[in-house]
Amino acid sequence: MTELTPARILAIETSCDETACAILENGRALLSSVVASQMDIHARYGGVFPEVASRQHVLSIVPVVQQALAQARLTLHDIDAVAVTQGPGLAGSLIVGMNMAKGMALALDKPLVGVNHLEGHIYSAWVYEAGEKMPPAPQFPLMALLVSGGHTELNLMTDHLTYQRLGATLDDAAGEAFDKVARLLELPYPGGPSIQKMAEEGDPNRFNFPRAWLDGTWNFSFSGVKTSVLYEVQALKKRSNGIPVQDLAASFQKAIVDVLFKKTINAAHEFGAKEILVAGGVSANRALRQTFKAQTEFPVHIPPLSLCTDNAAMIGAAGYFRYALGHVSEIDMDVLPTWPLS
Ligand code: KG4
Ligand code: ZN
Repeated sequence: MTELTPARILAIETSCDETACAILENGRALLSSVVASQMDIHARYGGVFPEVASRQHVLSIVPVVQQALAQARLTLHDIDAVAVTQGPGLAGSLIVGMNMAKGMALALDKPLVGVNHLEGHIYSAWVYEAGEKMPPAPQFPLMALLVSGGHTELNLMTDHLTYQRLGATLDDAAGEAFDKVARLLELPYPGGPSIQKMAEEGDPNRFNFPRAWLDGTWNFSFSGVKTSVLYEVQALKKRSNGIPVQDLAASFQKAIVDVLFKKTINAAHEFGAKEILVAGGVSANRALRQTFKAQTEFPVHIPPLSLCTDNAAMIGAAGYFRYALGHVSEIDMDVLPTWPLS
């Protein structure tokens, strides 16, 4: 591979309910990462309240950037470029990060790199803590499973920034299914970690929830399994036997993990991928991580837990490769979600 220009990137992420800033060297070495979560505020509403989210970003963005610089022991003048999440996400939230990033880039006269949030999740797998031993970078061709709250996709990456989207969910994203099933089991927001906690005490084989294989395609569908859990809960309530929340959570989680794992492995074989990458909020799921780590011969890259859910380090990593490979957007970029990228 050609040598890439070294650069120190300051990255900002405000697409949903975390205000985040990170500083990263050469797309991989993380110097600092600060994430101000609004989770406790939104938990009161059982989900993200967009207007509240934007206001919280306005309050947090400056202190979060200052903290990231302080943690890295740097000033703004040590930065070579600014990267920012451009979309997809909540428009009012994106605007806060975008304007902060634009302001900094203009004031410093440095390039501004717009990053797609999903591309950011994928690049979280390149990041490691500066000072620790550098792990091997993912190798192409790479089969990337992206599992977040809003998206579930299989992308074949043949090179940096080059994606072929093979399939995606036809209805709910995997994270969305976790959140909805958690709600119907009356578990707290966010649903993924709540289901995981319950599932660890439960029997994953007690309920045989459906798996939508959608053979002949690389698409996913998770609304059927969610509805099956609902019907099971309703039937159990009618029989007033009590709700075995742990067993329901474990069986539901297994149904999701089975489909994500098997379809990814099959796609990796079919398209001749050398390695597998799993990223996005749901990649924090312990059962999913263990399955990918234990049950395949493919080298599997899954980011550390702190980089699975939304953060700015991943935006800095994707931003660096965009910057170093010359794929930088215009400074007056819009908040427009575009995916897959070409
Ligand atoms: O990537 P992310 O932080 O935000 C989006 O870009 O959507 O993903 C959030 C999603 C939520 O649906 C959340 O319930 C899910 O990731 N999630 C998990 C776990 N931690 C977060 N799902 C399953 N198990 C987890 N441990
Ligand atoms: Zn995300």
